[in-house]
Amino acid sequence: MRKLAAGNWKMNGGRAALDEVAALCAAHPAPECEMLLCPPATLIAQMAWAARGKALKIGGQDCHPAVSGAHTGDISAPMLKDAGAAYVIVGHSERRTDHGETDALVRAKAGAAIAAGLIAIVCIGETEAERDAGATLAVIGAQLDGSLPEGATAATLVLAYEPVWAIGTGRTPTIAEIAEVHGFLRARLTERIGAEAAGVRLLYGGSVKPSNAAEIFAVSDVDGALVGGASLKAVDFGAIVAALAA
Ligand code: PGA
Repeated sequence: MRKLAAGNWKMNGGRAALDEVAALCAAHPAPECEMLLCPPATLIAQMAWAARGKALKIGGQDCHPAVSGAHTGDISAPMLKDAGAAYVIVGHSERRTDHGETDALVRAKAGAAIAAGLIAIVCIGETEAERDAGATLAVIGAQLDGSLPEGATAATLVLAYEPVWAIGTGRTPTIAEIAEVHGFLRARLTERIGAEAAGVRLLYGGSVKPSNAAEIFAVSDVDGALVGGASLKAVDFGAIVAALAA
């Protein structure tokens, strides 16, 4: 399994930010893990061009479940592929919250992504109230069951565990809590897709930064990270890549 350091730029960055991409590629020409940035859609084609021949892969942050049609403002998975993307994030908690995305919609998007030849990064995670209520495993188990596309394999699916309360807050679960969830997810995935589950990369996301990356990556069944804020600067994201590759 090739571990994955994935950066999610969210709604940040213009053309000037492409300098960060050049710096990242220069500093990490051949990392011992996969390196991915998911910029806003406006930058995908240019970033893919900047990354040609480099170790960096490019991804989208969302896609529509349909291939084309009358869906103003939306972008389809084949369009992302055409623009140079290799991955797409689906079901990020900000999409689930801001746009009311359900597990069924996330599953349809993931299926569309895989059909288009993209690798789908399916995001799941509990809210703080759900964790306080002791419902974490029930919630993420249900999200996994509901969001998992048909026929997913280790080559087409990445699963990202992102506790909603850890995103952008500087707070993270304890190492034991991360280990509990990732072990649970591996087992649940094995029930669903059998032996393929062993090769599916399970990412942790939520306030990953250079200072905590190594500790999180040492947890068994953590196969990389989905990084928001700390992916915007090449020096920070590069340090996380280096921790994963170590
Ligand atoms: P953060 O975001 O690293 O800024 O907490 C993570 C994410 O939303 O993927």
